[in-house]
Amino acid sequence: MILTVGNTKGGVGKTTLAVNLAVERFLAGKDVLLIDADNQRTSSAFSALRESLHGQTGYTCIELSGSAVHQQGRNLAPKYDEVIIDVGGRDTSALRGALAISDIALVPFAVGTFDIWAAEDIGRLIEEARGFNPTLRAFSVLNMADPAGGDNADAAGLLTETSALVYLRASLVRRKAMRNAAAAGLGVLEMTGSSRDSKACGEVGYLAELLYNKLN
Ligand SMILES: Nc1ncnc2c1ncn2[C@@H]1O[C@H](COP(=O)(O)OP(=O)(O)OP(=O)(O)O)[C@@H](O)[C@H]1O
Ligand SMILES: [Mg+2]
Repeated sequence: MILTVGNTKGGVGKTTLAVNLAVERFLAGKDVLLIDADNQRTSSAFSALRESLHGQTGYTCIELSGSAVHQQGRNLAPKYDEVIIDVGGRDTSALRGALAISDIALVPFAVGTFDIWAAEDIGRLIEEARGFNPTLRAFSVLNMADPAGGDNADAAGLLTETSALVYLRASLVRRKAMRNAAAAGLGVLEMTGSSRDSKACGEVGYLAELLYNKLN
């Protein structure tokens, strides 16, 4: 399956979710290709850090740009169990190319930002991609949600109004463990001892469960 984690907005948690899902799939025994299609190369940097600190990544990470995302992504996909594409937070040929070859688009939105008002932007791109990729499924998810409170519900309410995206009830709360894991070159699921955050693990695990087991 090819999964693109994308949004036309920056800083919503695309890379965080992409690398945590790549780690989750690796831990599930899958052969994973993580495509860094963002010129900021954050997924690559995370993977390089991971390799230097832990000796291996457990998945393959490559960098692709522009039209190569579409062409090489499609050629490479059959060689892997799972492909995860991390794209930059703008309307780029890389994002459009990724949507054209994906089975699923996962679109994170950060709670408490104006970005949620722009959900129609990515919704339009998804509708366009469906013109030549009619089976593309697209899901919105809340990231950096508050542990409790009405803001999450307000944000969820807005997302359910975006017709191109199905709202996935698998919110990820803003948790320090997410940042700490990234800084250690790990997915939250790999953190051990007192660094382990069982709530963060539960949220990443539930999102992966929905995407990889429940939606098929
Ligand atoms: N659930 C979370 N809890 C805490 N911090 C988070 C969470 N998700 C993301 N972050 C932090 O928010 C920042 C932005 O996340 P990230 O880099 O994943 O976003 P992005 O959408 O990939 O950004 P860009 O558009 O720049 O590529 C990072 O510092 C990341 O560690
Ligand atoms: Mg990113």
